[in-house]
Amino acid sequence: MNTRFHVRPGGALKGKLRVPGDKSISHRSIMLGSLAEGVTHVSGFLEGEDSLATLNAFRRMGVRIEGPDQGRVVIHGTGMHGLRAPDAPLDLGNSGTSMRLLAGLLAGQGLDLTLAGDASLSGRPMRRVTDPLALMGARVETTEAGTAPLHIRPVPALKAIEYEMPVASAQVKSCILLAGLYAQGVTCVTEPAPTRDHTERMLQGFGYELKREGSTVCLEGGGKLTACDIDVPADISSAAFFLVGASIAPGSDLILEHVGMNPTRDGVINILRLMGADIEVSNEHSVGGEPVADLRVRHAPLKGIHIPEDQVPLAIDEFPALFVAAACAEGETVLTGAEELRVKESDRIQVMADGLQALGVNARPMPDGMVIQGGGLQGGEVDSHGDHRIAMSFAMAALRADGDIHIHDCANVNTSFPDFVSLAAGAGLSVEATDA
Ligand code: S3P
Repeated sequence: MNTRFHVRPGGALKGKLRVPGDKSISHRSIMLGSLAEGVTHVSGFLEGEDSLATLNAFRRMGVRIEGPDQGRVVIHGTGMHGLRAPDAPLDLGNSGTSMRLLAGLLAGQGLDLTLAGDASLSGRPMRRVTDPLALMGARVETTEAGTAPLHIRPVPALKAIEYEMPVASAQVKSCILLAGLYAQGVTCVTEPAPTRDHTERMLQGFGYELKREGSTVCLEGGGKLTACDIDVPADISSAAFFLVGASIAPGSDLILEHVGMNPTRDGVINILRLMGADIEVSNEHSVGGEPVADLRVRHAPLKGIHIPEDQVPLAIDEFPALFVAAACAEGETVLTGAEELRVKESDRIQVMADGLQALGVNARPMPDGMVIQGGGLQGGEVDSHGDHRIAMSFAMAALRADGDIHIHDCANVNTSFPDFVSLAAGAGLSVEATDA
């Protein structure tokens, strides 16, 4: 289905809203809840296609899961060795997190199965997980190009490794740690820069001992997980579209409630503040080991900056939205050190540069980033290339464009933010979706 967004220019974002649950935490709640002993109750679960792909995968491996019902999910854990191989490949759709984390989680369980995905996921690099898994003694086969489908073959046992990750990737780190649960010995992963640590936090929440020292995290295989309750915070990556929209649209004053504020995820707030954004944080507290807060964001004049490279992994999913902020800022914004953007759900450097140029912005793609001259946007037609975050970013761009924006290929917004159109329209964006 080709869903299109038609967004009329102008307007402001106002009121109070809660964006859907965090995608990363939702995936992990199903994974660890399934392997736990006992019954895990989840609230705030993201009912988007990506996290539902994980949920369905575990159902197909024999886990009894109730819901989701208004964000509530009940998982009857099978224990560490209770999964069974499904009778056909597991279809993980567009979801890189499902595929890379499941590759690790399943590698040492003696199962024979296949993980498959859509065209986008089948083009994304998988050797970054299958190479370290091979060092652990796993047999996870890719295509010749190093892509999905992944065939997981049974092996007698996994052995622990000490692994220095060549890329700053939470998916790779999590994959190895989850495989490490089934390995003999102590598995350690060292990351070149801090990446999201939801796996580590949640493992501890399920009672699994884990040691962190500097940039290294270690765990010993052979332990068990004990069921617990999980309250999933609102996804800061979904809040990001509204943070940018309210910042660029004169007259905006918006409150985003219960947003996950994990310090490995808050780069978007740091970067927007460096650009001059007015974001107030209040009601800070912690739910199940994850910090949350309410955010109030008001329009403010933004200026171009050189984005500090240490913020890149902390805002890795937010660059499509941040590029829109840069296009509306005064002066030049430069992003470097972000080559990972080229292997996300789309090539986010090229696709965003093409879209910004179609809206009259001087955006120059580079191998590892982009240079954007701020100053505003025109109306026009852009193609999201099936990338949810690109579709939602260009929708927000209309708040400052001087003509209508038409966005093609938006169906995948449902992977992370199924009610985006109604929430954004309720806050003041003139957006309509049509299915062709
Ligand atoms: C994710 C990690 C990030 C992020 C993705 C979700 C996760 O990917 O882009 O949307 O849940 O672990 P990388 O770890 O590959 O950067």
